[in-house]
Amino acid sequence: MIRVLFVCLGNICRSPSAHGIFRTKVAAAGLEAFIEIDSAGTAAWHEGKSPDARSVSHASKRGYDLSDLRARQAVAADFSKFDCILAMDSENLANLQKLKPANYSGHLGLMLNFLQPPKIDVPDPYYGGEQGFESVLDMLELACDALLEKIQLQLRLA
Ligand code: 4NP
Repeated sequence: MIRVLFVCLGNICRSPSAHGIFRTKVAAAGLEAFIEIDSAGTAAWHEGKSPDARSVSHASKRGYDLSDLRARQAVAADFSKFDCILAMDSENLANLQKLKPANYSGHLGLMLNFLQPPKIDVPDPYYGGEQGFESVLDMLELACDALLEKIQLQLRLA
């Protein structure tokens, strides 16, 4: 069993999109029993809220249902549970590094590090236009494919 946590700032745009895309791909691969998925934000502003309506709508057009997800803040206890914690951008990563216990033995890194060639940040779409939401999904679909491949190799499920 591997537990994966996706983290952005508000947990209403990028990380729920990653969560929805990844769980759909995991289900399609028949690996739900082996991979547990969650998402969180470094900020608590949107705690308990559904994902941003724009994220829900753009994701839905590609076949990803985000409607059941609810925002929560990332907490230190997440490091006791998740083997792999993936930040959507370098600011989220810096904030997670501050929260990380010294003895954390899992992987804390950037989501787009899985792209070939690697990229750094999934740009925050919150204050931008519709194209920003599409480009978030483009990046996350590719990164989720690469992540799933890596996990399958690690779990020898490929
Ligand atoms: P997210 O996007 O980090 O991808 O969920 C944001 C959502 C809300 C805010 C900023 C970014 N905000 O400022 O409320």
